[in-house]
Amino acid sequence: MTKSVRTFETSQKWADAAAEHFDQLAHQAVLQRGRFSIALAGGSTPRRLYERLAEPPYRDQIDWSRMDFFWSDERAVPPDSEHSNYFLAYEAWLWKVPVAAHRVYRMPGEADDVENAAARYQQQIATVLGHPASGPPPQFDLILLGLGEDGHTASLFPHSDVLAEPVRWVAVSQSPRPPAIRLTMTYPILNAARNVMFLVTGKGKADIMAQVLEGPHDPQRLPAQAVRPSGGELSWFVDRAAASKLTMM
Ligand code: 6PG
Repeated sequence: MTKSVRTFETSQKWADAAAEHFDQLAHQAVLQRGRFSIALAGGSTPRRLYERLAEPPYRDQIDWSRMDFFWSDERAVPPDSEHSNYFLAYEAWLWKVPVAAHRVYRMPGEADDVENAAARYQQQIATVLGHPASGPPPQFDLILLGLGEDGHTASLFPHSDVLAEPVRWVAVSQSPRPPAIRLTMTYPILNAARNVMFLVTGKGKADIMAQVLEGPHDPQRLPAQAVRPSGGELSWFVDRAAASKLTMM
């Protein structure tokens, strides 16, 4: 695993750099394998990146039709809810670029039977990526993640049972904040990725950034610390405010 932490003076520079990295990874994947498989992050931070990818030059130079869009987690809300991670990406980005609509695979968080929804989503990942639906997970080209102020990522919350999930790639999770029920990718599939990008901005994340990157290793308390794509690249894209308590600054 290679790891990098890149900090940026302004949110514009942060968004430009993250978009440029996305573009490079997408170009490389399409060149080498004819496709780009990606799992999108939720919350609010990714919005600025998603909006930037819907602007020139990326809007016009990326081959959007080669992309398979998944999500790294979703809330138990309808896809048109303001709390939906799907809605965030669609409204900020996806409707503005020529994606292949049938290659956008929404995580069905609103399903009545969320356990079954998790299993169906795992099967969908396997089918689309041409991989056996059980056993070791497939390699996503890129997984985007955020960081909560409590150290969670995706919907992997501190001291939660899902942290110990050894086999399933997608599982049901309980959030301490509403919406409580979530679907989330688990460590096995996150840590199989070719590339993981953490997107972190704002002074509210300064404390947790310092704990996660420079504090004691305690992944039960700080789940983001256990995201370690063994055969891939882990990159942190952090603005100056969120990086302000890092000694490496
Ligand atoms: C979610 C996200 C979650 C998010 C962090 C950071 O569904 O909320 O997947 O993991 O990335 O909570 O959220 P902000 O970007 O809003 O700070």
